Amino acid sequence: MNLKGIFENNQKWVQDKLDVQEDYFEELSKGQAPEILYIGCSDSRVTAEDMMGVQPGQAFIHRNIANMVSNLDLSSASVIHYAVSFLKVKHIVVCGHYYCGGVKAAMQSEDLGILNPWLRSIRDVYRLHRKELNAIKGENDRYNRLVELNVQEQCVNVVKSPDVQLAYRKGQLTVHGWVFDIHSGKLIDLNLDMEDILQDIMEIYRLAD
Ligand code: CO
Repeated sequence: MNLKGIFENNQKWVQDKLDVQEDYFEELSKGQAPEILYIGCSDSRVTAEDMMGVQPGQAFIHRNIANMVSNLDLSSASVIHYAVSFLKVKHIVVCGHYYCGGVKAAMQSEDLGILNPWLRSIRDVYRLHRKELNAIKGENDRYNRLVELNVQEQCVNVVKSPDVQLAYRKGQLTVHGWVFDIHSGKLIDLNLDMEDILQDIMEIYRLAD
């Protein structure tokens, strides 16, 4: 890849925007009011804004390896706090993707150094859903199902945060689990029944009355 080309692309992008709207960047500089917080994988093939067709200012984005929302990860916690309490987003989306390298790595017995504690959270998802996963015959199918279940468990982790619980209770927020299918380019809504999932866990995680 030619890095010089990136700056040329940028110049062209700026010009394209200005051609359509003269004060585009002036408007953009005034502030942001995105309605969606998108939490996705860092995978270079899963381009958040491009794949969703959203414009600058429309989605608050957080990406990390395997779209994780880890308890002690200050980065994702800060993003969620800011998005919910200050930007007042209406939707939080956790978007996984089939053929996720992070999820695949967590299915294998391999020492991956600094990545071990990160991927261990995915191994925990496997353990939680071990019965269902072990019953799946094909390795690829099991792998893709783990991708979906990982999305589900990260949605649960989102709801564990006090900011989200308060907004949820007031009916200001909904949480969604999606998967991007690299093979077809399609975005799939897992239609997670968050109410049902929450009923199961709120007894333990409830932080707000
Ligand atoms: Co991935």
